[in-house]
Amino acid sequence: MKTLDCDYLVIGSGLAGLSAASRLAASGNVLLVTKRDAAESNTNYAQGGVSCVTLPEDSFDRHVADTLDAGAGLCDESVVRAIVEAGPARMEELRQAGVSFDTRPDGTPDLGREGGHTVRRVLHSGDITGREIERALLADARRRGPRLRILENAHAIDLVTVPDPVRAGARACVGAYVLDAVTGGIFGVRAPHVVLATGGAGKVYLYTCNPDVATAGGIAMAWRAGADIRNMEFFQFHPTCLYHPEAKNFLVSEAVRGEGANLVDAAGVPFMHRYDPRGPLAPRDIVARAIDHEMKTRGLPCMYLDIRHRGEKFIRSRFPNIDAELRRWGVDMARDLVPVVPAAHYCCGGVATTVEGRTNVRGLYAVGETANTGLHGANRLASNSLLEAAVCGAKCADWIAANPNAGGPRDAVIPPWDSGPAVPSDELVVVTHNWDEVRTCMWDYVGIVRTDKRLERALHRIENLRREIRQYYFDYFVTSDVLELRNIADAAWLIVRSAMARRESRGLHFSLDCPDRLPEARDTVIHGFGRP
Ligand code: SIN
Repeated sequence: MKTLDCDYLVIGSGLAGLSAASRLAASGNVLLVTKRDAAESNTNYAQGGVSCVTLPEDSFDRHVADTLDAGAGLCDESVVRAIVEAGPARMEELRQAGVSFDTRPDGTPDLGREGGHTVRRVLHSGDITGREIERALLADARRRGPRLRILENAHAIDLVTVPDPVRAGARACVGAYVLDAVTGGIFGVRAPHVVLATGGAGKVYLYTCNPDVATAGGIAMAWRAGADIRNMEFFQFHPTCLYHPEAKNFLVSEAVRGEGANLVDAAGVPFMHRYDPRGPLAPRDIVARAIDHEMKTRGLPCMYLDIRHRGEKFIRSRFPNIDAELRRWGVDMARDLVPVVPAAHYCCGGVATTVEGRTNVRGLYAVGETANTGLHGANRLASNSLLEAAVCGAKCADWIAANPNAGGPRDAVIPPWDSGPAVPSDELVVVTHNWDEVRTCMWDYVGIVRTDKRLERALHRIENLRREIRQYYFDYFVTSDVLELRNIADAAWLIVRSAMARRESRGLHFSLDCPDRLPEARDTVIHGFGRP
């Protein structure tokens, strides 16, 4: 087996991974592996923007307060403050790296507004902010030369760990096995510092606005390697995904509500004021639950966004991408109501980390949506995710550079990959079937509203599926499809077990059997695989 050596291995090429990799290139050799094209990340599809204190009438205290309010008592206030306060300087660095945020005619930033924010504070690039950030940061990373090598179609399979040389009973990460998704070959990477930045887990659910790459790879690999996983029950459903029989995954940004769109029924009657005085700009958990409730109690397939009153000129210039995409599906925002449904959007839980991305495994770090730093609590405030990815990717790199000896042992041996008796698969139907089964089970039983009975059913099915997938994994040569299936099944198990452990309703976790919020907010932690 070929083994590559580097100082830093970064897995994932969205905003968090690129932020870490580009910075680390100043102090060593970086290998960044990414399972598809480098631009194919959750970041690339982000529409709304990056929340950041900018206006004189805004303040760090106010941004912190809005984040804590959305997070329903579970945020770590010191983490929230550290990330919010680092925002303006980090946004300036993004601008220096070539990111262009929209400005007004007088040159000041044009700020969007989204649910849960008490003031305009969302920096954006039209309605394709993520695409602009991804473009600029990839170009910036490619300018770093041989210090930062990007390998595309390189799909991380699992992390390699050894006993931690310093802490008895703990593990240290020393690298990873990677599948070359083009040739099917497997190679090893040896690195004393490994940064997971694989994005989220939306594909765990049948309906999601996430791209196909969002398959929980980092969370699942970290857990299998012994890392603690925190608060996985908090999965955010975005209230407004386009409802259309053929459109797949299309998000209608919250920024549309920020610019005055109302949520209405087919007759144009608003309903959100019955749920929250903030109406359509209430935090996302409240809005998604309200839409779900309206649809279920009235037997409706969808609800609608209405922004017609803002007029054609404004709509087409503020939301050119959303407008074009909707018109492709026969919906004109300037004239029609836009049919919407909630869909899985953001995994607030993840690998338990410090604000610098450090995990309980020596030499292993997680950043961006893969991590759970404590910023989002029980419900993420809109546009805080890109902020977290940008800030924590950089903080992680700075911490590693300042602590070069805090990683796994440099001279560890990466054992050759052992395929055992595996053969090429003649049963691909099992993979397709199990993909559908995991995702349908999670949608039906572990969605916006949960009950003990539904969670028990889900656990039973997911455990059976994990056994089947594990057998398939050992019997046949690994492929990207099987790796992703194994990862979403592990993430599904983590979500179900975390949801079962929470005996209250809080933020995004709503249980009909435990509808009240307990007086004390506690994290749900599932220890790394195999640990008590
Ligand atoms: C959106 O544009 O509505 C998504 C923004 C976010 O999830 O933060």
